[in-house]
Amino acid sequence: MSSRPRALRALPFTLGLLAVGLAFVAPVAGCSSANDTAQTTLTLPDQTTYAPVAGALLYRCGSLDCHGTVWRNFRLYGYDSQRLDADAGVDGVPTTDAEVAADFEAFVGLEPEILSAVVLDHGADPDRLTLIRKARGLEDHKGGQRMTVGDDADLCVTGWLAGTPNDAACLRVPTEP
Ligand code: HEM
Repeated sequence: MSSRPRALRALPFTLGLLAVGLAFVAPVAGCSSANDTAQTTLTLPDQTTYAPVAGALLYRCGSLDCHGTVWRNFRLYGYDSQRLDADAGVDGVPTTDAEVAADFEAFVGLEPEILSAVVLDHGADPDRLTLIRKARGLEDHKGGQRMTVGDDADLCVTGWLAGTPNDAACLRVPTEP
């Protein structure tokens, strides 16, 4: 029989038990710390000047096999694309105000926090946004490169993000061949 006190002999077992206990408690404590009342204040680009931008993005991105489908996160609605109201017809009535509002939601809903940072920086470094990187071909994109820095669609979107809308550039996009 060992001469060591009983408590000492049980120490490895006690420590093992403690470790197992902690392994169960720690994660529970970790995930119960989320504050679901926390609110984030975002600064979004101006919705009232978005219609010409919507028209340019519909023309460059919104065809039915591209972003004119519910299967895309960045899903667009409007003329020559999917319609909010099926009776409108793909190439029927012009893009409605409700579709422009849905397209605005699609744009701002992708990366709201990063978008807010770009707007607060007056449009600086817009390629912090996935939408800009994919459109400019700076990131893998099944749709390929659809905007070039300085072309009308690029001037249109980046001008809007900077708070200096370039309607002339936006309105030229749908007239492209
Ligand atoms: C300037 C025009 C365009 C912009 C701004 C744009 C933007 C984007 C963005 C933000 C995403 C990621 C979110 C999502 O999955 O919806 C994406 C993905 C995608 N886009 Fe586009 N897109 C454009 C044009 C196109 C076109 C013309 C096509 C079709 C030929 C297309 C096909 C796709 C596909 C298949 C994906 C999902 C796979 C991927 O991430 O590459 N896009 N695009």
